[in-house]
Amino acid sequence: MFSDDHGSIVHPLDGHGYLRSFRFHPDDGVRYSARYVETAAKTEEKGDGASWRFTHRGPFSVLQGGHRVGNVKVMKNVANTSVLWWGGRLLCLWEGGMPYELDPKTLETVGPFDLLALGDRADGAAPARRRLGHRRRPWLAEAGLDAATRLLRPVLSGVFSMPPKRLLAHYKVDPKRNRLLMVACNAEDMLLPRANFTFYEFDAGFRLVRKREFVLPAHLMIHDWAFTDSHYVVLGNRIRLDIPGSMLAMTGTHPMIAALALDPSSRTTPVYLLPRSTEAVASGRDWTVPVEAASQMWSLHVGNAFEEDNARGGLDLHLHMSGCSYDWFHFHRMFGYNWKNKKLDPSFMNAVKTKEMLPRLVKVNECLF
Ligand SMILES: [Fe+2]
Repeated sequence: MFSDDHGSIVHPLDGHGYLRSFRFHPDDGVRYSARYVETAAKTEEKGDGASWRFTHRGPFSVLQGGHRVGNVKVMKNVANTSVLWWGGRLLCLWEGGMPYELDPKTLETVGPFDLLALGDRADGAAPARRRLGHRRRPWLAEAGLDAATRLLRPVLSGVFSMPPKRLLAHYKVDPKRNRLLMVACNAEDMLLPRANFTFYEFDAGFRLVRKREFVLPAHLMIHDWAFTDSHYVVLGNRIRLDIPGSMLAMTGTHPMIAALALDPSSRTTPVYLLPRSTEAVASGRDWTVPVEAASQMWSLHVGNAFEEDNARGGLDLHLHMSGCSYDWFHFHRMFGYNWKNKKLDPSFMNAVKTKEMLPRLVKVNECLF
């Protein structure tokens, strides 16, 4: 649901989650049912009333008919991004907040499911947990980032109600080990040139079996990622703070995403290979230095990743993913949402293909050991 009854159209990413279920009966065809996820935001914006009234701005949108100027209700967990069935639970995930659990038969919402707490409460109990933080910048620059982090955290949590860690909506399942893999970033990572990743691995009973933390000296926006037997793989989408955009975003007349811009300063794409296995950690390879793919791409989604022995006695990592040009990707036009004229027109993505938009195969080689 991305239009309310009071004149607001929000970005599809800020639309309320609506879970569809298809049941296939051998003798009786297919039965369809659907239900909104009863998040706290949905309860507030619809409740039991007949009409919708959006009260949250959402990170990508501008309200038209609602409280606009000075509205700090930016984060809106709408549980709309991905669906997970794991450990006997059906979860709807969102990029930045807790998953919501639903009943698979009735699609009724059970409530929030604090997956990160399961991972973080188990600290110390998991033998494989290890913090892997390299510091590659001069001491003074790191101290400046530490100070900025201390200033930002209370603002992000106290004013904007952001949890300290942002769970990414894309999860992975390792079928070989029967594990669920999740990753979280720190809330302040969006604003600072330092990226904190925490990877969690849960068994079929949601028990933490591995946890690794990494700190990268880069300003990144990550939505999807990959893993192999030995590594987590992150393609570095480079962003920077847009100061004029930040000022406008704070007023409520521009979407909050206007505070960020793509950083096209490098013509390559960093591919971070972060050690997952004990052997990869022990190899001593400096994982803060990315492999630079020789083409600049904004990474969207990963199809698959795997590794195989090569003829040189090392490992080849293969990654299948979709990406697009930095020239084409634009925070203000995603899915055809135009907050200036209240329009949502995804057909703009059907523009005539230019050479830049044609599919390309990019080869990235890295011999790891
Ligand atoms: Fe996605």
